[in-house]
Amino acid sequence: METLELPGIVHLRNGKGATLALAEASDGPELLKFYRAMPEEDRLVLTDDVTTADWLGRFLAKLESGEAISVVGKVGGAIRGEVTLHRALHGWSRHVGEIRLNVDRAARGQGLGLELARQIVKLAIDRGIDKLVAHMVDSQIAAQRTFAKLGFHQEAELPGHVKDIHGKKRDLLIYANDVSQIWSAMESLLGDFRPDRATR
Ligand SMILES: CC(C)(COP(=O)(O)OP(=O)(O)OC[C@H]1O[C@@H](n2cnc3c(N)ncnc32)[C@H](O)[C@@H]1OP(=O)(O)O)[C@@H](O)C(=O)NCCC(=O)NCCS
Repeated sequence: METLELPGIVHLRNGKGATLALAEASDGPELLKFYRAMPEEDRLVLTDDVTTADWLGRFLAKLESGEAISVVGKVGGAIRGEVTLHRALHGWSRHVGEIRLNVDRAARGQGLGLELARQIVKLAIDRGIDKLVAHMVDSQIAAQRTFAKLGFHQEAELPGHVKDIHGKKRDLLIYANDVSQIWSAMESLLGDFRPDRATR
């Protein structure tokens, strides 16, 4: 998997550069601005109400505790995309990470979403996560394609599991990727590695 030292710059299809960096508490006000600018249609099926100061407080607390890792994509200094890896630090699902990804409408189709997703998958593998999941509904075609490009497949469909902000029920699609194989391959490579025999 391609790696990018964060913060780093990726070149979008429109020729602009996007800076990708780990989100920090100081990004809070800009993150709230990013989510508040999102049209209601895009917020219909978000897990949380990301437009409230209350949400931001919980989000920053999770960044602090390590329950969430977030990468922001900035173009011209403004956040245009954000991806978060949510993980439980305790319990039976602590080997699983959930990815949530959003790109500003005006910035879509330029490669930012795929790049953000790629970076968070890399960070998750670096942290020893075995399995990654992403939740979406059937109308989120771009999301399905983005995650499929990174090796995810539809693992489950839960009928009527999502209630959008208008109360309409939708089917939840769970896309998953077992990255433990990548992890094992890396471990066996490291197991074979002898610094004294390393060649350049
Ligand atoms: C999913 C999302 C993040 C993709 O962001 P993006 O910056 O447009 O993505 P990219 O430009 O990197 O495109 C990635 C792939 O998505 C697919 N895609 C992008 N736009 C698409 C569209 N309008 N229709 C169908 N597929 C599309 C393509 O396969 C594309 O790869 P390709 O260009 O190499 O063919 C963005 O559409 C979004 O924020 N959607 C709403 C939120 C969401 O669905 N989140 C996922 C739930 S976790």
